[in-house]
Amino acid sequence: MKIIAFAASNSSNSINKKLATNATTFFQGETIEILDLNDYEMPLFSSDRIAKNGIPRLATDFARKIDESDLLIISLAEHNGSYSVAFKNIFDYISRLPNRKAFGEKPVLLMATSPGGRGGATVLEMAKNNLPYSGGNVVATFSLPGFYENFDDSKGIINERLRSELENTTSLVKGLVLRGQFQPSPN
Ligand SMILES: Cc1cc2nc3c(=O)[nH]c(=O)nc-3n(C[C@H](O)[C@H](O)[C@H](O)COP(=O)(O)O)c2cc1C
Repeated sequence: MKIIAFAASNSSNSINKKLATNATTFFQGETIEILDLNDYEMPLFSSDRIAKNGIPRLATDFARKIDESDLLIISLAEHNGSYSVAFKNIFDYISRLPNRKAFGEKPVLLMATSPGGRGGATVLEMAKNNLPYSGGNVVATFSLPGFYENFDDSKGIINERLRSELENTTSLVKGLVLRGQFQPSPN
């Protein structure tokens, strides 16, 4: 199984990148690639720019990564209750590529973390409802609240309950993906 994981953040110190990377450690033996949104920075999305210059090659590159994967692990930064601009920019561009949906009908393990007690619950809920309309088949979600209390850079999640929750979630996801048991997204 090829897994593409990334944080929906462009922070060089992204806590969501740490969480997404940590989640991949529960998929031993699988092929893992971790993307950094900074490698896909494009001009601010604009229909006028697309009409003039077309869709940037970086959008096609990002979409190809999605298309080559069997599972996406996305950990969302919450910015004012919503997606980070860095993620939304890429999302908007790849949604305009012809003959495909943004997330390529791939199964998605959707996660979020934040320093606060809600663990990015608002953006997580929004994405859970929204991604299926863009070809992201959300098979499971996981939120890590209080990142700095519950995560250690060398040990990963140090809260036993939350660690075990992520372990169970990733095990469930692996089984569902290997059996192809995930719902296609609505049209
Ligand atoms: C512009 C901005 C808006 C933010 N809004 C929220 C928010 O609505 N809810 C929240 O829990 N944290 C919010 N935060 C704090 C982020 O959760 C925190 O910066 C976190 O580190 C972002 O994830 P990242 O490190 O993966 O980029 C905000 C941060 C910024 C810079």
